[in-house]
Amino acid sequence: MTWIAFEGGDGSGKSTQARLLAERLGAVLTREPGGTELGARVRELLLEPGSSIDERAETLLMAADRAQHVRQVVEPALVSGRHVVSDRSAFSSLAYQGYGRGLGVDEVRRICAWASGDRWPDLAVLLQVDPRQQRSRMRGAPDRMESSGDAFHARVAAGFVALASEDPDRWCVVDGSGSIDEVAGRVWDACQHWLG
Ligand code: ADP
Ligand code: TYD
Repeated sequence: MTWIAFEGGDGSGKSTQARLLAERLGAVLTREPGGTELGARVRELLLEPGSSIDERAETLLMAADRAQHVRQVVEPALVSGRHVVSDRSAFSSLAYQGYGRGLGVDEVRRICAWASGDRWPDLAVLLQVDPRQQRSRMRGAPDRMESSGDAFHARVAAGFVALASEDPDRWCVVDGSGSIDEVAGRVWDACQHWLG
């Protein structure tokens, strides 16, 4: 069974594509942060606009969400013979906390590995959309992470590209521009290699 995570910037179309792929595969659809009851409460703390959270506390809250999620949702689904499609994963911590906050990818990777028992998605699909298009797709008031500034989000985007290019066995980069159906077609084609 395969665990596929969608990654990319805010507004790149991850939730939309994760839902479509999960429907097509009959997979369990889930997300980080917020894929469990505990995680939903942690997610509220993390995203509440205006709250001040130290970047190490932020990393550890993401890791706490993940520990619960991997044990309560991901592993049981895989064991029961279902594919899992998740909207974000530990790779977001490498990009947002490692690169974006500047905490260092190797250190954040160690924290993620400890939290998840070294369970990582089999495949990360990086949806690439230019920042202008991303902003035009975003709805509602920005959350705390979305309010972290253009320079932060540029570091995150560059971080994702670096992660994908360093580990091509686990990452595929998909052009997220065009209609929802066009992107879904590209995602489907790209996943075939990992789905065997
Ligand atoms: P993310 O999860 O990456 O933040 P979403 O999937 O929630 O992104 O998409 C953000 C918004 O953009 C939603 O309103 C969604 O309906 C819309 N959207 C998603 N994909 C596309 C697309 N290919 N073209 C136009 N709008 C899109
Ligand atoms: P979410 O609504 O899932 O993403 P999006 O805005 O793209 O729809 O919000 C989660 C936010 O948390 C998003 O800004 C990315 C961030 N995040 C991290 O900083 N580290 C992590 O490990 C994860 C999973 C998410």
